[in-house]
Amino acid sequence: MTNYIKLIVLGLVTLLALIAANYARDLAYLVNALTVALVAGGLFLWTLRHTDEPRTRVDLSGEYMDGVVRAGVIATCLWGVVGFLAGTFIAFQLAFPGLNFDWAQGYANFGRLRPLHTSAVIFAFGGNALIATSFYVVQRTSAARLWGGNLAWFVFWGYQLVIVLAATGYLLGATQSKEYAEPEWYVDLWLTVVWLAYLAVFLGTIVKRKEPHIYVANWFYLSFIITVAMLHVVNNLSIPVSVFGSKSVQVFSGVQDAMTQWWYGHNAVGFFLTAGFLGMMYYFVPKQAERPVYSYKLSIIHFWALIFIYIWAGPHHLHYTALPDWASTLGMVFSIVLWMPSWGGMINGLMTLSGAWDKLRTDPVIRMMVISIGFYGMSTFEGPMMSIRAVNSLSHYTDWTIGHVHSGALGWNGMITFGALYFLVPKLWNRERLYSLSLVSWHFWLATIGIILYAAAMWVTGIMEGLMWREVDANGFLVNSFADTVAAKFPMYVVRGLGGVMFLSGALIMCYNLWMTVTRSPAVAPVNNAVPAE
Ligand code: HEM
Ligand code: HEM
Repeated sequence: MTNYIKLIVLGLVTLLALIAANYARDLAYLVNALTVALVAGGLFLWTLRHTDEPRTRVDLSGEYMDGVVRAGVIATCLWGVVGFLAGTFIAFQLAFPGLNFDWAQGYANFGRLRPLHTSAVIFAFGGNALIATSFYVVQRTSAARLWGGNLAWFVFWGYQLVIVLAATGYLLGATQSKEYAEPEWYVDLWLTVVWLAYLAVFLGTIVKRKEPHIYVANWFYLSFIITVAMLHVVNNLSIPVSVFGSKSVQVFSGVQDAMTQWWYGHNAVGFFLTAGFLGMMYYFVPKQAERPVYSYKLSIIHFWALIFIYIWAGPHHLHYTALPDWASTLGMVFSIVLWMPSWGGMINGLMTLSGAWDKLRTDPVIRMMVISIGFYGMSTFEGPMMSIRAVNSLSHYTDWTIGHVHSGALGWNGMITFGALYFLVPKLWNRERLYSLSLVSWHFWLATIGIILYAAAMWVTGIMEGLMWREVDANGFLVNSFADTVAAKFPMYVVRGLGGVMFLSGALIMCYNLWMTVTRSPAVAPVNNAVPAE
């Protein structure tokens, strides 16, 4: 019966997508419609071929659902490499503008590739890491299989479709020009469906848990899922110009639109890049260190403080704009206060190692996790400082912001994800251990030196250009032209590019190491029974 319903739905979607492709008003919309038609049509044929096949029902309720986590781990590695490669390429495009090839204008110039990079690393790499780890963690800490049967697979594949539609859209010029929310209206609608399914799977699993207590990592994951849903819906309220075209018009305008965008933008940092990844930290660090969380009480306090304060800090992105002063001051004050709950998380993560500090010498995976917490602490000190209006008047529009972003993104999000992947792969593929710890060490050093080169180069160039823009002579005339400041940045741009090459090489080494772990490491008996919380 369900197969017949599936066939009707898939057939309808294929037909509608083909009609949409026929009437498409722009290239991005046409390619996206054909992609949807291809996917839905393929699924239609697949379902048709398997309809009426006798199905043996096996009771899997006592086993964890790990297939989807394995798929998420593979997707994280794949999108990570794509996103880092795009980042490294655009870094060299900034240093050597000739890399904006004439033949690739309109597809692969900096302006098209930049959102491809940011979305690939944040949503494809980070998003897949969050979905995969949250599915793993919620099962282990609830002693329950994922709720909703194949709904988890729908979430996984639905999310990959969002990524493909968004990425091809960017290259072909479909964007609503809101940073980190570039995808156009139809991709936004699809993401809303997928995200609600994600919420249902996660919440459903928590509801049917066999453990009375909800472990703190799940609180962080849940706040990330709920808040992202809210941010996504409000910031993407728009009206399509035509149902057969990608262009849409925002319902907010002027400064209200800007404020909504940065309320979204800052909370994408707060809930996507912070709360979700803190969920990861609270499970994988204690597991890898084989120590309990340093202070459970602190984890609860800083959780509530963090989510209440983050939501107000967005206006610090709009200092010295048409935003009223009171709103900008409010954003600044909340950003400064945010330092405390952020460091609550950092201290809790680091101190979880108390009694096991010696592991830093022997275990490169824990080293990776510790340095990630260190970078988290650093960027959450730097952020509140940059939100002070006087400091922001220097840092805004400069590469200092880019340095801040990447010390958080590469150092915190990147490294904690790598640590989680090293923890997960042997467990998920039933291997005794990782293929090579010395390759983990190579990865660690390449990534760490890469981040330092990146961040240091951006701090130097950011502060330099900020000061050059301000410099006036005795008569009050500006000393430097804008082109002078661009020329002065060249050496630092090359250093940043090299940092990117090192970070990318480390990630490639990780992929090789994980692949060899799956194929070469000695196997052990599978343990994926839903046992009392692990
Ligand atoms: C190999 C590693 C990476 C390199 C070389 C790299 C390089 C770059 C470059 C050149 C830009 C454009 C800067 C500009 O417009 O002046 C950029 C922007 C950005 N990247 Fe990366 N990136 C890397 C990894 C990552 C990762 C892992 C993340 C997130 C998890 C990330 C998040 C971002 C964000 C959010 C922006 C936009 C910043 C802003 O608008 O202020 N990047 N990246
Ligand atoms: C207490 C925590 C934090 C505060 C108060 C904070 C504050 C700030 C401030 C003031 C800016 C510059 C805004 C501007 O001049 O345009 C900024 C930019 C940014 N921060 Fe943070 N930050 C924090 C933590 C983080 C972390 C941990 C990450 C990443 C993992 C991060 C990612 C970003 C990104 C992506 C931008 C660039 C936004 C853009 O213009 O495109 N921040 N942050």
